[in-house]
Amino acid sequence: MNVIIRDTYEEMSRYAAGIIASLVRQKPDCVLGLATGSTPIGTYRELVRMHKEEDLDFSQVKTFNLDEYLGVGMDLGKPYNMDQSYARFMHEELFKHINIKKENIHIPDGLTKNPEEFCKAYEEEIRKAGGIDLQLLGIGRDGHWAFNEPGSSLASRTRVEVLTKQTLDDNYESFYKKAGIPRDQMPHFAITMGIGTILEARNILMLANGRRKASVVAKALEGPVTSQITASAIQLFKGGVTVVLDREAASELKNVEHYIHREKLLGTFSFNSINE
Ligand code: PGA
Repeated sequence: MNVIIRDTYEEMSRYAAGIIASLVRQKPDCVLGLATGSTPIGTYRELVRMHKEEDLDFSQVKTFNLDEYLGVGMDLGKPYNMDQSYARFMHEELFKHINIKKENIHIPDGLTKNPEEFCKAYEEEIRKAGGIDLQLLGIGRDGHWAFNEPGSSLASRTRVEVLTKQTLDDNYESFYKKAGIPRDQMPHFAITMGIGTILEARNILMLANGRRKASVVAKALEGPVTSQITASAIQLFKGGVTVVLDREAASELKNVEHYIHREKLLGTFSFNSINE
């Protein structure tokens, strides 16, 4: 596992965007797995800058997002159902600023009438696209990847999940409070890729920043693998793993010296099996 520690959120974001850009340049028709939340916003801004100033070309890139609230969503081009949909987040933070084709964007449909069928079809779409080359991930304070809340099977597939109180509290602070939406009107369910789905990507890029993530980052990377912290499944990943942290999020890790030493010795980053 490559663990890269940078002093600030901005440096973390630049490093992460550099990895994504390097994949897009090496494999212009790559498949990216994308994440929402506050963590990747800086990375998306940097990718937008690279698109505008350095001709980073997304015209053949396909994307699959990790998750979406159930009962919330957006048809690109049609009015938003609710401002807090992850579809809207992706559109505002990334897609509307780059030259990605609408038909290459995949986000779980929070407005689906048949969630079970939708989840099966989403997995099928990922397979048809040839699988995910690089999955971008954050980590929730309860250790979740996407909405794989504590207790989710580490072999789970795309499905509907019930959100934990901790996730509802965090989402309320980061999205709903700002929009003036009452807590009882927040969605309590979500469609999420499973941990088993995520583990099939060829490469993982996980990001975390801020003091409030330090404890869960240490548990996920250096503690036991457990369904109570679904991001600890990172330790089971077969492909290439890079974790990029800011100094605060790395502050409870035990092996920091080794990670720094490893980064110095390894030098240039390479992707796992993107050209197979
Ligand atoms: P955050 O969420 O980026 O808003 O902290 C991360 C997550 O829940 O995966």
